Amino acid sequence: MRPYPDTSDPGRYQVTKEDSDRMIFKVPSLRNVEKTGPYFHNGKVKKLEDAVTQMAEYQLGKKLTMEEAASIAMYLHSLTGVIPAELIKPPALPPSRAKTPKPEA
Ligand code: HEM
Repeated sequence: MRPYPDTSDPGRYQVTKEDSDRMIFKVPSLRNVEKTGPYFHNGKVKKLEDAVTQMAEYQLGKKLTMEEAASIAMYLHSLTGVIPAELIKPPALPPSRAKTPKPEA
């Protein structure tokens, strides 16, 4: 509903170069969201209430009161649960070879 103010990361456009992919980001699961901050693609939002307030403003064009944001965040806390170990086990990666990208020094 309102343009996101920081366009330094153009989102999916960076990969596809399609204009229609500008500022398109994956919608993350909100399961366990209280534990997965900081929020959004750039990790710039630390508090869940602030992420909720920004969502309402940019995605829905609505101004939430602090109380409304707090009660939505309270609901989001109810989405916290035990993550099945199978889903968070480290992936088995193929062996490293000469061409495997290495972290920058
Ligand atoms: C009041 C309703 C909403 C709430 C409470 C809400 C909540 C959230 C939260 C907490 C995040 C951060 C998740 C994370 O980074 O791990 C998020 C991200 C996101 N949500 Fe919403 N959301 C709402 C409405 C919407 C709507 C209507 C849309 C789309 C039409 C939307 C699209 C997205 C997208 C694309 C992201 C990822 C943004 C990014 O990484 O920069 N949300 N949402």
